[in-house]
Amino acid sequence: MDVFKIQGGTSLCGTVAVSGSKNAALPMMAAALLTDGKTILNNVPDLVDVRTLSSLLTSLGCEMTRHANGSLSLEVVDESHSEADYELVRKMRASVCVMGPLLARRGHARVSLPGGCNIGHRPIDIHLRGFAALGAQIDIHQGDIILQATQLRGADIDLAGPNGSTVTGTCNLLTAAVLAQGKSRLTSAAMEPEVVALADLLNEMGAKISGQGTPTLEVEGVAELSPTTQTVIPDRIEAATLMIASAMTRGKLTIQNVNPLHLSAVTTVLQEIGVSIHESGVSQLEIACERELSPVNITALPYPGIPTDIQAQLTALLCTLPGRSVIRDQVFPDRFMHCAELNRMNAKIRQQGDRALITGVAQLQGAHVMASDLRASAALVLAALAARDETVIHRIYHLDRGYEALETKLNLLGANVTRCREEDAQRRSPSERTNLRRSA
Ligand code: EPU
Repeated sequence: MDVFKIQGGTSLCGTVAVSGSKNAALPMMAAALLTDGKTILNNVPDLVDVRTLSSLLTSLGCEMTRHANGSLSLEVVDESHSEADYELVRKMRASVCVMGPLLARRGHARVSLPGGCNIGHRPIDIHLRGFAALGAQIDIHQGDIILQATQLRGADIDLAGPNGSTVTGTCNLLTAAVLAQGKSRLTSAAMEPEVVALADLLNEMGAKISGQGTPTLEVEGVAELSPTTQTVIPDRIEAATLMIASAMTRGKLTIQNVNPLHLSAVTTVLQEIGVSIHESGVSQLEIACERELSPVNITALPYPGIPTDIQAQLTALLCTLPGRSVIRDQVFPDRFMHCAELNRMNAKIRQQGDRALITGVAQLQGAHVMASDLRASAALVLAALAARDETVIHRIYHLDRGYEALETKLNLLGANVTRCREEDAQRRSPSERTNLRRSA
């Protein structure tokens, strides 16, 4: 297993381009199952999660080619299999996004029920309720969900859950409803840009969806869809992570390939903290820290609120600001595993229910820490960039699932991040030996 060794303390400066969005690319790739012919997606990030879904789609009869320019072409050549293997679903729960397209196009899907998750309870009851409303028969057998329908029928489906709407659930039901007979009305639908991107792709394929970006989606079912070419939107979570990296290291970054509209909640809160953010040119933001930053109280909410996927990174930032901050997560109320690791770096965070109570410290301190999920890993990287001395982050395979070439991008901005094997990281660096002597 690889680890990151990060020597903290340098301000990040320069220009960096954001990659295509992982969470937009995954359901768009699955939507290729709905058509005959070649679907081409541009700006697909080269990530472990994209490769995992590619393996799953290949096993479902889809031929995939990745081109040097970041495009992916997908073409279904065999529709005889509709079973998503446990080994692949276990690796990535977003694999469930094949359920809608398989059911709509092949009339059958067998997908392993996703298991536990480090970011909290993640049922898929709303997806299943929606498929049932569209007329699917649903059985659970030996840990697999089996969905069957000879012809889906349009229906009214409410997607509200205890913590808001469901992003992948909305994608799943959209991809099923587009080929259903008649009209569907999805209420309390997720408004995330990734859902809008999927709806736009489906409409390009010939679907009739309206209301994307609002809580009510109207879908007029069509008999068939045709393949098309579409570009994946920029990754707003990667962009926000880089914005916070700039703030945490008191650096100055130009971040390219962003959609500022998708980032408005993050921009507002960073500006409230005291970070200076300006749009410059097309799809470009300038981030700088020209004054003292102050603490803030934040709640992560469904879009257009502050994303839960940036909660951990904001927590890392708030740890370095003088005074008290509170951060709540209403989407995943248990998503706080990063806090104990940040505390190992001298942070002062107390978790209380769905919130973290943070007292800022003058300086974070490098340590050996363990990544527990993708965004928790990003929070540890940010903390390490701002910390004194060296931090070793274990289990960075989580990061490889969702950030394309992160260490390359950070190093080009002046960071000192080295990827090495776990065994090599066990040997203590000179700075760590000095720390140990100091604290002895
Ligand atoms: N929920 C239910 N029932 C359901 C589905 C969801 O109660 O049937 C609950 C969840 O437990 C959670 C809330 O609804 O409390 C929102 O979950 P959602 O279904 O929206 O999450 P998701 O679609 O599984 C996507 C992203 C996550 C991101 C969430 C929230 C993808 C592949 N994943 O997950 O991204 O945190 O939306 O915005 O799009 C990440 O990229 O690191 C990541 C975890």
